Amino acid sequence: MVSPVELRLAQVDDAEAIRQIYNAEVTTSTVTFDIVPRSLDDQRRYLSDRRGAHAVIVATDRDTVVGYGALSPWRSKPAYATSVEDSVYVHPAHHGQGIGSILLAELVRVATAHGFHAIFARIVGGHAASIRLHEALGFEIVGTEREVGRKFGRWLDVVVMELLIPTRMPAATPGLRPDDPAPRPPRG
Ligand SMILES: CC(C)(COP(=O)(O)OP(=O)(O)OC[C@H]1O[C@@H](n2cnc3c(N)ncnc32)[C@H](O)[C@@H]1OP(=O)(O)O)[C@@H](O)C(=O)NCCC(=O)NCCS
Repeated sequence: MVSPVELRLAQVDDAEAIRQIYNAEVTTSTVTFDIVPRSLDDQRRYLSDRRGAHAVIVATDRDTVVGYGALSPWRSKPAYATSVEDSVYVHPAHHGQGIGSILLAELVRVATAHGFHAIFARIVGGHAASIRLHEALGFEIVGTEREVGRKFGRWLDVVVMELLIPTRMPAATPGLRPDDPAPRPPRG
């Protein structure tokens, strides 16, 4: 069943709703490697840090935030600037209703519109829902980091998934648009 949610850019005022959704996973699951719940100030800072191309999108159901998705820098060194990492979190009461897919599809659109080339997801090993969510949108597994994390007394793998967005090179020739088809070779 696909839930009739609306999407909008997150506001700093969404911090409390977002941190409730996130902290439930911090304290009960291994899907995030955070172990200390976010304070309201932490969450406000997170939202303030993600502006413009590094967007946070919320999904709302009758004005209640039921999930969010974010694009974060992949690495700090400058040559990584064309890559981003996605995060998608849906309130447990709304899992399995297509909301994660709606959010991730929107993040892919935002990343494409801003000219990013690669989107990564880092997913705890065995997290079938998140792996399937990403596969359904074209992400592929590009590696597994074995036993890189430890939470609740267990070693945790991280499955790295990647979606490459075709890069559209701007035309160097005046008057030639990037969408123009390549010329056909002459016949004969
Ligand atoms: C992972 C998560 C975002 C998925 O969001 P969702 O709204 O429940 O997922 P959707 O309903 O859009 O389903 C997406 C796909 O995953 C599949 N899926 C959903 N739950 C699943 C499960 N428990 N096991 C296997 N596949 C599952 C769906 O069938 C669907 O695949 P399809 O397109 O082939 O039908 C959600 O479970 C969640 O918020 N979990 C806690 C936070 C989290 O783990 N975030 C990701 C961190 S990497």
